[in-house]
Amino acid sequence: MKIGIIGAGQVGSLTAMRVLQEAIGEVVLVDIIKGLAQARALDLEDQAGLLKQDYQIKGTEQIEEIQGSDILVITAGLTRKPGMKREDLLTKNAEILKEICLRIRTLAAEAIVIVVTNPLDIMTYYALKITGFSPNRVFGMGVSLDASRFINLISKELNISVADIDTYVLGSHGEGMLPLGRLTTIRGISLEEFLDEGKIERLVKRTIERGKEIVDLLGNGSAYLAPSLAITNLVKAIAKNEKRIIGVSAYLDGEYGLRDICIGVPCRIGRSGIEDIIELDLQPQEKQALLSSALSLREQLNNLKQCHG
Ligand code: APR
Repeated sequence: MKIGIIGAGQVGSLTAMRVLQEAIGEVVLVDIIKGLAQARALDLEDQAGLLKQDYQIKGTEQIEEIQGSDILVITAGLTRKPGMKREDLLTKNAEILKEICLRIRTLAAEAIVIVVTNPLDIMTYYALKITGFSPNRVFGMGVSLDASRFINLISKELNISVADIDTYVLGSHGEGMLPLGRLTTIRGISLEEFLDEGKIERLVKRTIERGKEIVDLLGNGSAYLAPSLAITNLVKAIAKNEKRIIGVSAYLDGEYGLRDICIGVPCRIGRSGIEDIIELDLQPQEKQALLSSALSLREQLNNLKQCHG
């Protein structure tokens, strides 16, 4: 397996480390900042001796090096500063993404592309359109991270291990995200048996704001430790054909009553990327919330079309 990671910043370099440590394949790390990807690659090579594990990593400024990659992870782009929403990154990151996707189209025409750059769902849609790849091969990492955040907060509230909590988060990877309290279970028992509606609502709200909480504390940059693990889980599910159900920003063509949009939904992930989109049986108010999330994404897509055609 050849895994190309474009953007050797916080998320990209830590993803490279995790992918290597999991022995998923060889890694090519690319960044436009002179020396950055090479430095990170050398640093990662230097831990191989400590791990007693042989692996292949190359750092470069030349995007041509991704040629023939099986899986590509795009983390290139700007991050949020305090006071910014993910959506504020739209125009600048779209420019970066366009340039990269045009190269991917010719350099790695068979690759499965995982988009990480924010605003996630919009960038995923954009990457899909620019590469022209089939929708099972281009998707975004967002809601699986949000689900892990929700699980963590529930675990803290109830003093129950994260290992026993299961949840779904749907919608955009942003303010329109939809952590589903109703479909959250603790060893098969509904969360609603453990917590009243008000408490669940508070945890949902904290989940939605978790990324912002981290951005505000960091002051410069956004979360990367948990995000890099969420990406690695996706890379592993593809490379090892795991058939795992993982929430990703997927292109919908009628599923959930939505069309021509990328938004977070649970999918079966295997060697060919998205192998199935799982349609949950939503209640009317949940459907309505997903629809509002999609409408807000549609508005941003329209803004982007006005700027970039
Ligand atoms: N090609 C390659 N790399 C690029 C390009 C490009 N055209 N444009 C920017 N980059 C690189 C930057 O040089 C930088 O090293 O992308 C890297 C981004 O790294 P960080 O600034 O550390 O950001 P990070 O925390 O890794 O987040 C990356 O993921 O979660 C999202 O919102 C976040 O969009 C952001 C992305």
